[in-house]
Amino acid sequence: MKTILVTGGTGYIGSHTAVELQAVGYDVIIADNLVNSTASVIDRIERISNGKRPLFIKADLSNETEAAAIFDNNKIDGIINFAAFKAVGESCEKPIEYYRNNLQIAINMFVNMKKHGIKYFVQSSSCTVYGEPDSNPISENTPPKFAVSPYGNTKQMVEDMLQFITQTGEIKAIALRYFNPVGAHPTALIGELPNGIPNNLMPYITQTAAGIRKQLTIFGNNYPTPDGTCIRDYIHVVDLAKAHVVAMDRFFEHKNKANFEAFNIGTGNGFSVLDIIKSFEKTTGIKLNYCFGERRAGDVVRIWADTTFAEKELGWKAELSIDEMTLSAWHWQQQLAQE
Ligand code: UD1
Repeated sequence: MKTILVTGGTGYIGSHTAVELQAVGYDVIIADNLVNSTASVIDRIERISNGKRPLFIKADLSNETEAAAIFDNNKIDGIINFAAFKAVGESCEKPIEYYRNNLQIAINMFVNMKKHGIKYFVQSSSCTVYGEPDSNPISENTPPKFAVSPYGNTKQMVEDMLQFITQTGEIKAIALRYFNPVGAHPTALIGELPNGIPNNLMPYITQTAAGIRKQLTIFGNNYPTPDGTCIRDYIHVVDLAKAHVVAMDRFFEHKNKANFEAFNIGTGNGFSVLDIIKSFEKTTGIKLNYCFGERRAGDVVRIWADTTFAEKELGWKAELSIDEMTLSAWHWQQQLAQE
């Protein structure tokens, strides 16, 4: 039985990944400082997992002592690193905090991996490393562009560190470059819990439909796209979680072809903001109150993934449709309202 440390495991993507890891027999240790999540998520993971409960350790992983204690007290076979600050706008206001937190967490993981002989590391990365693509779909060998935010830069920097750290052969790493994760677990027991006013589209839609927000503003309707709104590759969080399990399996089955590999994790399909709203209205039967506003600074016009490499090498492919994404997001929002 292999034990995986899931950092940031009470968060949105981490919690779904913990469920999928346990479903195929991994033991899971979750370490999280709960700045952006709650400990009750552990109970929910246990419910979804038919009574199998991850070990939970409350810790600030950017603190050397707290991070080291986890490794001194537990046998760990691999790490999936989700723990990070992740708000793009906030990262521009607090760049130093973002660099310190996101890079220090990664470094503390690497130091302890070396100390304890832990070989396998999966990094939560982002399509933001590509910037505005010259053409779509975008493949993994497209060189990253200058980051548009400190948040995006920390994702690039951790990938850069891994490029070099893995060259000694002691550590093998996979970076998963997510496109736009949305949706929630089909049980509606776990999902995205944005702090305050959501920055991202899907929680803003569901909160508007629930009456928490008055109106969704679509940021720009004069982009050079078929309907004038930006295009993204939205991916169901359950599909995304499964990609992490496949990446971890790849290490234990010795299938990795290089010490550092990066994979696009998307569906390969681009949908506009209006496409998402149409899907939401169709699946839920709710008419969404929205208007058009100014473009948001830093938005790329269009980006979607070339998924050929992930399909061929990982044997992983997204399965859930855009309608399953919008409907599950709504079910999660409804469940939240009952709490
Ligand atoms: C954003 C981040 C990205 C990060 C990802 C994590 C930026 C520039 N990028 O991606 O680095 O990895 O979140 O989830 O912030 N939209 C509206 N109205 C809203 C909210 C969004 O029209 O109230 C539009 C946006 O303009 C965009 C699309 O919806 O076209 C998706 O936006 P969002 O969910 O914020 O994701 P990204 O910006 O793609």
